[in-house]
Amino acid sequence: MCGIVGYIGDKEAGQVLINGLRRLEYRGYDSAGVSLTNGDELCVVKRPGKVAALSQAVQEEPGSLRQHRVGVAHTRWATHGPPTQVNAHPHLDRSGRIAMVHNGIIENYRDIRAHLEQKGHAFDSETDSEVLAHLIGDYYQGNLLEAVCAALQKVEGTFGIAVICQDEPDQVIAARRGSPIVIGVGKNECVVASDAAAVVAVTQQVIYLDDNDVAIVTPGAVDIRDLNNVPVNREISELEWSDTSAELGGFEHFMLKEIHEQPDSIRNAIRGRMDFDNGTAVLSGLGTTPREISEVQRAIIVGCGTSMNAGMVGEYAFENFADMPTEVEQAAEFRYRNPIIKASDFVLAISQSGETADTLAAVREAIQKGAWVSGICNVVGSTIARETGRGIYLHAGPEISVASTKAFTCQVAVLLMIALKFGRCGRLSCTKGREIAKAIESLPMLVEQVLERNDIIAKEAEKWVETDHAFFIGRGYQFPVALEGALKLKEISYIHAEGYHAAELKHGPIALLESGIPVVALVNEAPGKEKTIGNAHECAARGARIVGLITEGDTETAALMDSVIEIPKCPDYVAPVPMAVALQLLSYHVARLRGCAIDQPRNLAKSVTVE
Ligand code: AGP
Ligand code: GLU
Repeated sequence: MCGIVGYIGDKEAGQVLINGLRRLEYRGYDSAGVSLTNGDELCVVKRPGKVAALSQAVQEEPGSLRQHRVGVAHTRWATHGPPTQVNAHPHLDRSGRIAMVHNGIIENYRDIRAHLEQKGHAFDSETDSEVLAHLIGDYYQGNLLEAVCAALQKVEGTFGIAVICQDEPDQVIAARRGSPIVIGVGKNECVVASDAAAVVAVTQQVIYLDDNDVAIVTPGAVDIRDLNNVPVNREISELEWSDTSAELGGFEHFMLKEIHEQPDSIRNAIRGRMDFDNGTAVLSGLGTTPREISEVQRAIIVGCGTSMNAGMVGEYAFENFADMPTEVEQAAEFRYRNPIIKASDFVLAISQSGETADTLAAVREAIQKGAWVSGICNVVGSTIARETGRGIYLHAGPEISVASTKAFTCQVAVLLMIALKFGRCGRLSCTKGREIAKAIESLPMLVEQVLERNDIIAKEAEKWVETDHAFFIGRGYQFPVALEGALKLKEISYIHAEGYHAAELKHGPIALLESGIPVVALVNEAPGKEKTIGNAHECAARGARIVGLITEGDTETAALMDSVIEIPKCPDYVAPVPMAVALQLLSYHVARLRGCAIDQPRNLAKSVTVE
């Protein structure tokens, strides 16, 4: 789930690897380690906690180690065994001459471990990963590639791995199944990584491995085989991200930087994709004709977390603009529910990272069942983007903060565009289409206006510092925004927060209300506004403090709230974007005032590649 970096080339590998790990820190992790070799020795340094502790430990090692030119490194997000030094990666084989780092889960590790124990292997850690390192060693007969291929044929589960061997110090072997591996190909050097963020500092030229690819990585060259050692061809592509896009640029946190990037990221997401004359969107990535679109009978949107919340906004737009029956499904549930899918179904998978295991599994299931499957991804070249084959990139730039912000608003913008296009292939009139297109075009400006209210929102946050529980309520397009507001608050401030449909509170959750608990009510100009205000009052009557997200200038509603955050006037279907931005800022400031680790919240990882 977390970070892999491998290096071979003409630089000091230890330095490149530690720098690479630093660039992967945003993903959330609990321990780190590095292994280097020069052919005479193979050393391993591991530490629980942060990369800084590992870097310090490497500094303290003898100078010769730091000059090695090949190595692998890892930040671990523990799945098997606590985050201790011994469980940290790299793991060694029995001989201590092979070192391996692993992302993912080896599902049949208990069987393999028992089998190896019978052969006399003893294990130091509780991890599934160490078992794979031993299995590779068990197969090793002087050819690391062959040993890796043989071992990987025996394992079930997911892996991205990078392996080095003291006896073959002129190569790094990398492989993947279900966990991403990208290889940066520079001049006289190569970087293996689980995420392009660790590659950009070295090169923009990259190769993405496909599942069951094994790569022999040497300085400046990559040779890729399948698990049977048969050569396969993978294209080199150019990274869109520059080295500076993963830097703070004067902001205190990546989350704050990314919140402020939203006017630009949304501009990038909609650039060149609007056709104002015809009141529609131009989405060539969908790779389909109006006739094919008109044959779609149902849309099914799948995703997890924030991406699923964006999907729920999309559901309203698909129904309203395109009269399209639409379902939103939690991606993990989609796969295991044995869904009824037809060729006339349009399955849309939403994933910022493009690597989320549950969403990927849903994509594969939908392809298997013959649906038309498209992706909305941010990370170019990610697995979901590649496996869906057609879809739409967000072009939001790297999202470093674990809490998703700019991806959400770009996902909503893209979903509105797809719904508009589907609508225009159906009964939506040109006039209405133009009106929607104009509203989508105004999104960056609406976000700018919310960002100008940063100080007011920060002031509101001061009242939240001692809060233990909070509720967010909305209806219609704002119902998913209430869910997203609660998710954002809980993940970065650790305040227990729940999002509900405004009408749902009285069916149970209202029992939890106590004096002073904040209830954030999303009340813009939309059908059901008065009802949501009524629901807020039901909460106020039970002692809750009502914070209204209201339309700018709506003094009548403001008078009914304990405090308000104003959102610029806009149509209901675009309001989720400015509403969400206001809630992102609120969560950010609450978390900051509570002294939380905003960009790397506890227990969370940026991309969840395990089911
Ligand atoms: C968002 O703030 C979360 N950290 C999380 O819910 C995230 O949206 C989810 O894991 C899905 O990720 P994806 O978009 O990369 O698939
Ligand atoms: N399953 C492995 C472990 O617990 C790898 C975890 C990871 O992906 O970081 O060590």
